[in-house]
Order: sequence, then C-alpha cells, then structure tokens
Amino acid sequence: MAGCSLQWYMSGVEELKQQAGIAACDFVKDGMKLGLGTGSTIRYTVLELGRRMKHEGLKIVGVPTSESTRELAESLDIPLIPLAEAGVLDLVIDGADEFDPDYNLIKGGGGALTREKIVAQSSNGMIVVADDSKQVDTLGSFDLPIEVLPFEWKRTADRVAEFCSGPVVRRGGKKPFISDNGGYILDCSFGSTITNPSKLESALLDIAGVVEVGLFVGICDAIVMASNTGVLTLVKHDGRLV
Ligand code: A5P
Repeated sequence: MAGCSLQWYMSGVEELKQQAGIAACDFVKDGMKLGLGTGSTIRYTVLELGRRMKHEGLKIVGVPTSESTRELAESLDIPLIPLAEAGVLDLVIDGADEFDPDYNLIKGGGGALTREKIVAQSSNGMIVVADDSKQVDTLGSFDLPIEVLPFEWKRTADRVAEFCSGPVVRRGGKKPFISDNGGYILDCSFGSTITNPSKLESALLDIAGVVEVGLFVGICDAIVMASNTGVLTLVKHDGRLV
C-alpha cells in the first residue's frame, strides 16, 4: 500500500511539473531569443517549444544553461547560439528549488547554477516554472548549492561553514559531482533561516574559491506554479514583465 501511494505522489508531482513547464510557453513569442534553463520542470518547457516549432511554426533561438539542456534542445532541432552572439535575451525560463514571497530563489539542485545565473543576468525577464512544493516563506530548507573551485575546496568549504549553522557537504561525497564548468558543488544546510538572501549572497561571493552561489535575488519576474487546484502565474508587481 505504502509503495502505491508513493508512486501516486510521484506521478502527481511529475504531472504538475509538466503543467507548469507547458504553461510558461505562453510567454514565448515568435522570434524571441530565449534562455533555456535546466532541470526536470523546464524539460517540459523545452519539449513543448520543440513541439510548437515543429507543428505550429514557432521560431525561436535558444541559449542553453547546461550541457544536458543543450543535448535536449539539439535533439528537438531547436537552434542554439552562444550568449556572446545573442546579446541580451528576451526571456529566460528556468526551474527553481525554492522561491520566497519576494521572488528570491534557491537554484542549483541540478548543479547548473553558475551558467543559469549568467544567462538570467543577460535576459530582459526571468520566468520560473515550479510545482507548489517549491513555495516557501523563508529560503533555506533546501540545502543551498554553491559552486566552488576544486583547488583547496576544503578550505573554501570551511570558510563557507562560518556562515552556515548546519553541515556543508561536497555533492557526490568521495566521487564528487563535477559541474559543466569543472567545479564542485557544496550543499549547505542553512535551514529556513535565509531572511536576507542578498546579504548572504554577497558574503559568500567574497570568499575566494567560491565561483557562484545558488541564491537568485531580484532576478525572477514571474513564477508559473502548478498545484492540484490548477496553474497560477504570479507576476512580480515591480518586475520587468509588468
Ligand atoms: C539546476 O541547476 C537547478 O537550478 C534547477 O533549475 C532546479 O534544481 C529545479 O529543478 P527541478 O525542476 O528538477 O526541480
């Protein structure tokens, strides 16, 4: 019985991810230069964009935020260009591990936070796709991912730990996860205590060896959130999409 209900829950969440991922495509217009995020929710966005290109004649070009998204987009014949060639993007659509009432995010569960932030900061708007389990009052229940250089990473982790009351763990343990950039990811257990994400982000970025922090502050403009009662699009009142 327990196995059955777990399976039901998992397929339920998967369905919500799909609904959010597809609904976000309504923001996409012909001719857009689009940042393509990373993760299991945005995957549905990319699949839907591929479908609309093939069957409805939609024309876009994409900038992928990871090698996995690059492979998926290429398999769907979505044309891709480097960011340097694209210049400023019209929009980036991406997933998130958590979002708070101020549209601040934790990202990096898939280890792509650095490329995701580079692409997001190069876009005129950011839309997050998520199921409602990602909505929190205060960030930090999800362990904060931080990308660091492999060089003397333990020293970097010790310095990060000065800011973090819980464990700071290298992802993958003895067989470390390696990011697309060749970096390690530290997963940092803050608990739901991150009341000032901007201040924390600055402090962590000051540590030599830290490449990027998975806090996205003041970047997200809208959240397409799916729950059992339907899909809701939350638009930041002072964001770039109003
Ligand atoms: C990738 O590094 C992440 O930032 C993802 O966007 C985030 O972890 C959300 O992923 P899911 O949609 O798979 O939950």
